[in-house]
Amino acid sequence: MNVLVTGGAGYIGSHVVAVLHAAGHHPVVLDNFSHSRPEVVQKLERLTGAKIPLVQADVRDDQAVLTALKIHEVEAVIHLAGLKVVGESFTDPLEYYEVNVHGTAVLARALEAAGVFHLVFSSSAAVYGKSDTLPVNESQRLDPAHPYGRSKWHAEQILADLAASDERWHLVGLRYFNPVGCHPSVLIGEAPSEIASNLMPAVARVAAGWQSEVEVFGQDYPTVDGTGVRDFIHVMDLAQGHLTALDYLVQHSGWDVFNLGTGRGVSVLELIAAFEQACGHSLAYRIASRRPGDIAASFADVTKAHQILGWVARHDLADQCASAWAWQQALSAAPS
Ligand code: WQD
Repeated sequence: MNVLVTGGAGYIGSHVVAVLHAAGHHPVVLDNFSHSRPEVVQKLERLTGAKIPLVQADVRDDQAVLTALKIHEVEAVIHLAGLKVVGESFTDPLEYYEVNVHGTAVLARALEAAGVFHLVFSSSAAVYGKSDTLPVNESQRLDPAHPYGRSKWHAEQILADLAASDERWHLVGLRYFNPVGCHPSVLIGEAPSEIASNLMPAVARVAAGWQSEVEVFGQDYPTVDGTGVRDFIHVMDLAQGHLTALDYLVQHSGWDVFNLGTGRGVSVLELIAAFEQACGHSLAYRIASRRPGDIAASFADVTKAHQILGWVARHDLADQCASAWAWQQALSAAPS
């Protein structure tokens, strides 16, 4: 299928493009490069050995999107273009609602005008917020803890209402837990410009000597060792989940959501210890105060994606750390 990947030059998007191509699909990248770089598309062409059509545009530019859909005879869209930094969403919530919510509505309107009704939406476990029960399942009450999570929640609501209004829509939302690692070629990964305040890149930077120590945001949570617990998922498993979602939505109209995680919770200190195994030396860390907006623990119930999509994450924590370390070493070796 001809698949338009919005945000296709970004961290998750570029891996989705690589996996789509490997599966015989024809991905087209739409990206405004506000949080990514054009070189990623060149890397993808090197990686795939194919020409990857590129549309430099913002998803809120409905004419540009409509033109792209028609020119490239798009049959389905995977919508990843969006903002994702939790701290930033507190200081500039309007930008998060304009891009993540309004952007999704404008994109959907353009799809309708082009007669394209197949859409996979990049959502986030952040829509759950503080979870009463763990692991988190898709029917859980949604109570996002910050504007980023709320923007994803609102976008989900738009798509759910759209599907309820018109049976032509085939829509799937994927709730990512914590993406980490890079493509096995080590040609693409999370670019330094994209790296928010996430844990795995911070640990990798300490391992590479770019940072003196890991700041551990709190050791007084009700968890195994007092530090935050998360469900880290390899980006290649995440990308594969988009492929299975695409296959699913071709056969199923309506709206549905799926968790994409491993089902296992890993604490900050457990991740640091696993990374020490991957990089071969100890890593300094300092216990700091809690970070606003953080929840104690979150990890996925992945039964639904397994039973309905036939998808399961295959990379374990050691694979994830080895992959993130390989990427960090590639960044360290790259000309600055
Ligand atoms: C993980 C844990 C921190 C950095 C967010 C978004 C989520 C997704 C991934 C977009 C927490 C602790 C972190 C550090 C630390 N984004 N930590 N020191 O906050 O779970 O998820 O990013 O898709 O939607 O909500 O990820 O990696 O920032 O934090 O101790 O330097 O590591 O407190 O417990 P998070 P994270």
